Amino acid sequence: MKHLLSIEKLARADMEYILAAAGAVKQQRGHELTQPLAGQTWPLIFSKSSTRTRVSFEVGISELGGRPMFLSAADIQLGRGEPIKDTARVLGRMVHGAVIRTFAQRDVEDFAQFSGIPTINALTDDEHPCQILTDIFTFEEKRGPIAGKTVTFIGDGACNVANSWIFAAAKLGFELRIAAPKAFQPTAELLERAGGKISCTEDVNAAVSGADLIYTDVWVSMGKEAEAAARLEQLAGYQVNQALVRRARPGALVMHCLPAYRGKEIDEETFEANAATIFTQAENRLHVQKAILNWAVA
Ligand code: CP
Ligand code: NVA
Repeated sequence: MKHLLSIEKLARADMEYILAAAGAVKQQRGHELTQPLAGQTWPLIFSKSSTRTRVSFEVGISELGGRPMFLSAADIQLGRGEPIKDTARVLGRMVHGAVIRTFAQRDVEDFAQFSGIPTINALTDDEHPCQILTDIFTFEEKRGPIAGKTVTFIGDGACNVANSWIFAAAKLGFELRIAAPKAFQPTAELLERAGGKISCTEDVNAAVSGADLIYTDVWVSMGKEAEAAARLEQLAGYQVNQALVRRARPGALVMHCLPAYRGKEIDEETFEANAATIFTQAENRLHVQKAILNWAVA
């Protein structure tokens, strides 16, 4: 039984397998030779908003022959307090796999354990594995192997997307620099768990110097809305803009997982100058997640 619960728990070999498979999946779109999800129903159980993840999984499951079933947590009994382990035991008897977006990482892990069906983390407070697999695929599509390269993450260095980058760094052998205020840097315990070549600093200029990839994400993640004003104030000096990009390696890529808030984590000019990369990143969610689904049911 295969699950994609986190980058932390994903074996390096599986990560490399998915990344290697995604290119062919992208090329063969519309001419798929097999339908590995034929006859299967896959619910998407979402407790948070989504544009890219929802649409790419619904389209991807359909293109692989399966039937996606979107279940907003607010519309099922889960939203009224039915335990995740009971929801998992019911759905496990009816459907063939599940894609879950929620708050607690523990909920995705409990679902996988109690349902007995392949379970995919579509974002939790701790990780966003589908996003990071896609980001790495997109980088490698444009620049070749990420091993030996330098990635600089700027902004909320303690968010789910940053965490997944942290666990990817040691597995794929790239350097990761995190530029964030102290309060938004990952804990020493997490960095120790991840291993690899990772540094944290409040000096954004030093962090981007010579970088091959500059990456940012929203300053106010879903679930953190009550902290919005304080976050915007504390993170104000961590915007990705043209002056910063000029300090990176010439030809450095700028990526954003989206949605983007112009004038906050990135300015309009820098966003639009890098729109081709950013929207390829968004498109690649579809191809990489189809590779993840193929891997999960193989
Ligand atoms: N990047 C991402 O996961 O986008 P959505 O929240 O729209 O799914
Ligand atoms: N860190 C962001 C990612 C959105 C795709 C959030 O959790 O809201």
